[in-house]
Amino acid sequence: MSWLYLLLAVAVAKAQETCLSVQDDPYLLFATKTAYIFANKDIPFTKAHEVPGCQPIAFWLLNRHGSHNPEADEISELQKLGDLKANILTNYKNNNFRNTNQRICSSDLSILESWMWNNRVNQTFAGDLTVDGYMTTQQLAQSWKQKFPGLLTSNQHNYLFKFVNDQRSSNTFKAFTEGLFGDQAEGLDIPKEHDEKLLEPYKYCPAWSKEVGDNNESLSQRNIFESKMEYKEMISNISLRLGFNYDIQKEIIQRMYQMCRYNKAWDVVKISPWCAAFTREDLKRLEYAEDLEMYYKYGYGSSLNKDLGCTLVKDMMTFFEKHAASDEPQQPRVKIQFSEANLLLLALTALGAHRDAAPLTGDNYHTATGQSRKWATSTMTPFNANFAGVLYKCTQNGNFQVNEQYQVLFLENERPMRLEGCRVGLCDLSLVKNKLGEITKNCDLNFCNSANRLNSYTLIFVAISFFLSAVIRI
Ligand SMILES: *[C@@H]1O[C@H](CO)[C@@H](O)[C@H](O)[C@H]1NC(C)=O
Ligand SMILES: *[C@@H]1O[C@H](CO)[C@@H](O)[C@H](O)[C@H]1NC(C)=O
Ligand SMILES: *[C@@H]1O[C@H](CO)[C@@H](O)[C@H](O)[C@H]1NC(C)=O
Repeated sequence: MSWLYLLLAVAVAKAQETCLSVQDDPYLLFATKTAYIFANKDIPFTKAHEVPGCQPIAFWLLNRHGSHNPEADEISELQKLGDLKANILTNYKNNNFRNTNQRICSSDLSILESWMWNNRVNQTFAGDLTVDGYMTTQQLAQSWKQKFPGLLTSNQHNYLFKFVNDQRSSNTFKAFTEGLFGDQAEGLDIPKEHDEKLLEPYKYCPAWSKEVGDNNESLSQRNIFESKMEYKEMISNISLRLGFNYDIQKEIIQRMYQMCRYNKAWDVVKISPWCAAFTREDLKRLEYAEDLEMYYKYGYGSSLNKDLGCTLVKDMMTFFEKHAASDEPQQPRVKIQFSEANLLLLALTALGAHRDAAPLTGDNYHTATGQSRKWATSTMTPFNANFAGVLYKCTQNGNFQVNEQYQVLFLENERPMRLEGCRVGLCDLSLVKNKLGEITKNCDLNFCNSANRLNSYTLIFVAISFFLSAVIRI
């Protein structure tokens, strides 16, 4: 078949075409489905994290899983790309282009031609870690061990792992502990717990589901952005490039984007034909659309999000306070939670991290807020994203820079977080308690089951307006 396209390509060689699969500097930030190395180009060299005069005594980690197969409900959607591929090839063969200057180029097309759905990605393995996801998880565990060798030792009794009871999380645990303990990991009795309440709080919070999670108001800013002229023009341009005489549906764009970013996470080197459907500007818009959705569902867009995420912060602070309160070493010294992007975003929101001065909206993509936003899920929650807190115990006069005996180091994706009042990520424990005290003190999930908080307000409001309109009518 390829010779046919080759012939056609020669025949129309004079026309300008758009080649998007081979770019020197491709755009690889794909919101919540970004590979860790794309989000963290310069991960610091893995060596022991030394703080003069101080010893790390406790380690708390929240870690997202690595790249995974499509979820069960995505598989049949993504398989439809086979039909789309056939249509695009037919368009090309029939020279079905409104504007040949904007046509997909023949080399992009031949990469697409060789694309096929991998039949091993079926319901049995839906959502499970990929080979790459497994390996990056092992490597991350080794990297943590190299950074904190005195804490992340081979003694399994120092640890407590928490994760939910599913295949992906169990394999994440397996990969991570293999990274820490090597081949003998499987034979060790490593302390572990399933803790769905801590790690999937959104599944146990009806008030949150009602007001945020299942409330399509949460999508309204994303919808506003996607109804903009430039977004529609983007869809027209993509449709034009692929040889359609009409604008393809938003859902199909989303499907191609999904396949593109899964491909780039499963194999960071290989070119994905589906990424070649998009220009750099297209990819930035698609990224912004997802950032908006996550901002309202799991970030600062709703005040309930920090109320839900606070339990993680509380868990960490309780852990540190227990270690700081005792002269004897406490067990576990290392607490590791495996979870997903949504939880990490809730926890970062409760911590007050990545907060922009103005809210993200569907209208401010081109403003400074939109363009240099701190809320960027590509860098906050790539695959394997992580947030760690390390408690240090320091000897008096051992380090002239530290004032207090206990110090906390915060790391986000292995890099020290810059926090006000701290030095290269190292904060006095009292300062951390001050900053996070309010959140942890008022943290309880009673609101989750309290009888329809918002609804009672709504009812009062409705009652008042009803009363007023009755009055006005008289
Ligand atoms: C998925 O594929 C594997 C082998 O590749 C097979 O053993 C399994 O039965 C398949 N599952 C389904 C649901 O088709
Ligand atoms: C919100 O969801 C309801 C129920 O699913 C649906 O009827 C309604 O059209 C949705 N509204 C918007 C703006 O999408
Ligand atoms: C659509 O394509 C035209 C022509 O290449 C270009 O000038 C315009 O900026 C594109 N629009 C969008 C929204 O990408």
